[in-house]
Amino acid sequence: MKRKTVFSGLQPTGNIHVGNYLGALRNWVRLQDEYDCIYCIVDLHAMTVEYDTSDFAKERGEAARVLIACGVDPKRSLYYYQSEVPHHVELAWILGTITGTGQLSRMTQFKEKSGTTGANLGLFAYPVLMAADILLYRADAVPVGDDQRQHLELARDLAERFNFRFGEEFPIPEPIIPEHGARIMSLQDPKVKMSKSDPDPGSRILVLDDPDTIRARIKAAVTDSGSDVRFDWEQKPGISNLIEMMSLFTGRPLESIEGEYGTGGYGKFKEAVAESVIEGLAPIRAAFAALDDGDVEQIVRAGALEAHEKAEVFQQRVRERVGLRG
Ligand code: AMP
Ligand code: TRP
Repeated sequence: MKRKTVFSGLQPTGNIHVGNYLGALRNWVRLQDEYDCIYCIVDLHAMTVEYDTSDFAKERGEAARVLIACGVDPKRSLYYYQSEVPHHVELAWILGTITGTGQLSRMTQFKEKSGTTGANLGLFAYPVLMAADILLYRADAVPVGDDQRQHLELARDLAERFNFRFGEEFPIPEPIIPEHGARIMSLQDPKVKMSKSDPDPGSRILVLDDPDTIRARIKAAVTDSGSDVRFDWEQKPGISNLIEMMSLFTGRPLESIEGEYGTGGYGKFKEAVAESVIEGLAPIRAAFAALDDGDVEQIVRAGALEAHEKAEVFQQRVRERVGLRG
């Protein structure tokens, strides 16, 4: 029987943090055992906000290296840069012709980002390109964090709309969003998610941060009033965020952590959280150091060739369906 296809993407804008890892990347890695996985560094998406052209290729290469260090295995998964396969953009154009502008203007991420950087067509069409990424390979499932839920809903709508208008072509992709870790919060404000673009580096822990930085970040993390260590997003968002991280890095249930640190005060608890994060990230730092930039570039280049071939076969069917071929 044909194995199901998984697709996901990550923007190569430096700063890959524990939110990316716990919300998405860990699932990417896990799914490689069971599915045909396609993982893409979505450089075209990253161009929709201001960026520095002189650093862009370097950051993209570093992101590619980080993901391999996190466990993306190019021997098992197809792994490449989005811009190397022009079919993403071609399909995005076609899907754009069946996308309502009203639906796009309701996208939370568009509203947030256009507020800070000014709207451009790329930012507006961002979710359509994302839908094209997914549908191009007929993906069945998409591992992402909670913030991508709405975009995935659009991809599902577009698949249905296309199938209805032009004939059954796309499976309706299912989101894979973990029950815990899908929304790791900022260490400085547990009401907002941890983000690559937060101007305050104290708000996040990067997967490559050294142990001293991690200890300092967690020590300085904003906590809640009171002193009990309790998992309760309403009353104790700061502490809950830390409990969740510790639980995910150690594999211990939330209750067992609450049980051990419940009444011992924040200080001791934070030290334990820091050590569990350091230990959880150590293999990634080591794997990153052992990789070579030249090898990584070769891997993504070979991936692009294979992805290109695959995409061409699939896209030909779309061209036929929409009337662009005979
Ligand atoms: P991005 O950094 O926007 O390219 O996101 C890459 C992946 O990480 C996506 O699947 C996001 O949903 C996920 N992600 C980003 N930020 C977080 C967060 N704070 N918590 C959990 N997952 C996240
Ligand atoms: N928009 C996603 C993010 O910012 C990245 C992305 C682009 C993606 N294309 C995708 C994720 C396709 C899953 C599937 O996190």
